[in-house]
Amino acid sequence: MANENKWGSNIAFVLAMIGSAVGLGNIWRYPYVLYSNGGGTFYIPYLVAIITLAIPLLILEYGVGYNYQSSFTKAIIKLKPKLEIYGWLLPVGIFLMTIYYSTIIGWDGIYLFLSFFKGWGTDPNTYLNVNLLQATNSLSGLSNFIPFIAVFMLIGWFFIWIISRRNLDEGLGKVCKIFVPLLFVVMIVIVIFSLTLPGAYIGLAELFNPNWSLLWNFNIWMAAFGQIFFSLSLGMGAGFTYASYTEDNVDLVSSGLYVIIANCAFENFSALGVFSILGYMSLQSGIPVSEIVSQGTTLIFVAYPQVFNILGTIGFILGPMFFFTVYIAGITSMLSSFEVLSISIQNKFNLTRRKATKILCLIGALASMIYATSAGGYILGIVDVFINNILIIFSVFVECILFAWVFKAEKLIDFMNKRSKVFKLGKWWLWHVKYLIPFLLVIIWFGGLKELLALKTTESMIVVTVLVALLIIFSVIFTRLPAKSEEWFKTEERIK
Ligand code: PHE
Repeated sequence: MANENKWGSNIAFVLAMIGSAVGLGNIWRYPYVLYSNGGGTFYIPYLVAIITLAIPLLILEYGVGYNYQSSFTKAIIKLKPKLEIYGWLLPVGIFLMTIYYSTIIGWDGIYLFLSFFKGWGTDPNTYLNVNLLQATNSLSGLSNFIPFIAVFMLIGWFFIWIISRRNLDEGLGKVCKIFVPLLFVVMIVIVIFSLTLPGAYIGLAELFNPNWSLLWNFNIWMAAFGQIFFSLSLGMGAGFTYASYTEDNVDLVSSGLYVIIANCAFENFSALGVFSILGYMSLQSGIPVSEIVSQGTTLIFVAYPQVFNILGTIGFILGPMFFFTVYIAGITSMLSSFEVLSISIQNKFNLTRRKATKILCLIGALASMIYATSAGGYILGIVDVFINNILIIFSVFVECILFAWVFKAEKLIDFMNKRSKVFKLGKWWLWHVKYLIPFLLVIIWFGGLKELLALKTTESMIVVTVLVALLIIFSVIFTRLPAKSEEWFKTEERIK
């Protein structure tokens, strides 16, 4: 059992981290965020977010995770025993995110299935909203359960169960070693094909056309920071957890950098593909690109099927390839968000990997059924804003204070620098994690709060209240339940 939770190699760690980072956020979220926040201009806040926030924070998470070699919760207890409840708040919050993530994976599963016979018909927009989701823009749709969606969501949970229950390296490690490289290969094929389509240049010109006046707009900065958090699975315990499973000789600084480069290359590359296709569509239909993209986050379930329709026979090949890529990207990300709570309960209640996986998959699958109703899409939108803009940012702020100040980030420097093949950590790094990042987080948090309050309706506030209640209730329960393992209060430190 000794290596139930260990990577077999450092390559497995890096690939699993890339698998976590490259997900739905890269394929459906990023192209739209880039386009609607100034196009070419967006690269300035985006690069600033990578340099000031992503690189220093990812390295900090990896370092502390490596040091404690345990779940996020257990590390928090070691740092501040009184804060156990916070140690559960993040894993429970990420578990709630995992539940809604499984919904989009379910939708994608449906489209993968439909793509073999273009089952979305000639009007993909009506198909998505009316036939499939039967979407109501309120909670009234809760009573309308849609079994077809439920089945595909359960298939997603089944994959998570099958993969996660195995020993880490044989399950998660193996899946990432095979599918993460495949993900890149298939995406490269799709994008190269898209770039050769007539009209591709129309889409690309529209995408990159900078709008410099937006540079002074607070919202595009918020969007850039939000995107970097979500896309890199930053501050969500995933990097912490994966790094805690590494071998002693791992080079965490280089690994972090590879993950960031791979993730950002992937999302920018997929944006090229998406906009070339939109350009092609615009040329065919005469509708300007700006009108086609206004469908926002449903882009991949509406615009793509439309293109596969126009493409005729090639659509039958490209369609399944595309939805398969999204599926793999989604599953490898969901595996990592699932892992955060799973390892915490394994540690505290002395459960095996198998048992923890079974319990959490059952609870998760059951809870996710709320999204298989007509109100699913509506609730998902609110939960997304709340978790990403409020909970995560708050949690990363606390994490930063605990890791940089209480743990003392300086303890990591020598250890990290000895192994680093790329660059060395120095005063600049400490300055970032101790002062700059907490300061930025406060600003981002208030920006997020503004966005949440803008939702305003009574129903959205009901959803937020229920979420907060669930978060608190589960965190309190996990904190109060007595530990079943002697080890729970003993945490070894690897870095002396
Ligand atoms: N990084 C993933 C994406 O881009 C989302 C994610 C966040 C996954 C946190 C796991 C943990 O889609």
